[in-house]
Amino acid sequence: MQVIAINSSPNAARGNTAAILDPFLEGMREAGAEVELLYTKKLKIKPCRGDLNCWLRTPGKCSQKDDMEALLPKLRDCDVMVFATPLYVDGMSGPMKMFLDRMIPLGLPFVELRDDHCRHPSRDPQLHQRKFALVSNCGFWELDNFDALVGHMEAICRNFDSEFAGALLRPHGGALRAMLELGAPVQDVLDAAREAGRQLIQEGKMRAETLATVSRELLPREVYLERANQNFQDALDEVERRRERTQVRAAQKRSATLQA
Ligand SMILES: Cc1cc2nc3c(=O)[nH]c(=O)nc-3n(C[C@H](O)[C@H](O)[C@H](O)COP(=O)(O)O)c2cc1C
Repeated sequence: MQVIAINSSPNAARGNTAAILDPFLEGMREAGAEVELLYTKKLKIKPCRGDLNCWLRTPGKCSQKDDMEALLPKLRDCDVMVFATPLYVDGMSGPMKMFLDRMIPLGLPFVELRDDHCRHPSRDPQLHQRKFALVSNCGFWELDNFDALVGHMEAICRNFDSEFAGALLRPHGGALRAMLELGAPVQDVLDAAREAGRQLIQEGKMRAETLATVSRELLPREVYLERANQNFQDALDEVERRRERTQVRAAQKRSATLQA
């Protein structure tokens, strides 16, 4: 089983998306999958130019020379793709959308009916159906913040003729790392992410109860709000204190220069 995972968080390996993605991929590896993890932050991927050269002038190849050139054959041949993104303005991050747009050379320009709906056929019709999995985390507390993103990912799967394998969704995602550092009992969330990875490789699907544990409430909403707002206030106060210190130092330097 070949798995390609793309983490599109600007915080890369240190982010809250990685906190769920990494054990998920670990579970896949433990189940025998060969996993390649890519960070959009480290890749050069330009936005699609919309000239359709990849369909008409150089079929199957984008005319732009960047990292997508070497990646496309791997994306075509893999068994599972994992799209990992922080929730940005109710959807995927910009780099993830740019990545998906640049997968268009894998299809043909023609239009066919699939499940009574207009679709582009795959450039390689012999190809097996890939599975797409979603990993996301967000700042707000409620699970329904992911509804639009999950709906989008399901539509993308229909568009690319791929199977939607399910989603690991972590609301109030920032709390997970903070609670781990404090030694709070949240290890079961990471264990469930790892177990979901194992299930996907060994059983071909992830169990609803495992995914529910990944998404479970970490702390009551009122407590989360209070702590999140206190952290933001502390951060703002710290910035203000630094600004004041810098101003005092600059004033001292000016008066020392005047006295000299
Ligand atoms: C530009 C931007 C937009 C965001 N939009 C949302 C949003 O619509 N809903 C939400 O719950 N969190 C939103 N967030 C919060 C992130 O999803 C959250 O901080 C997440 O933990 C970041 O993951 P990362 O550490 O992997 O980058 C947004 C953050 C940024 C920077």
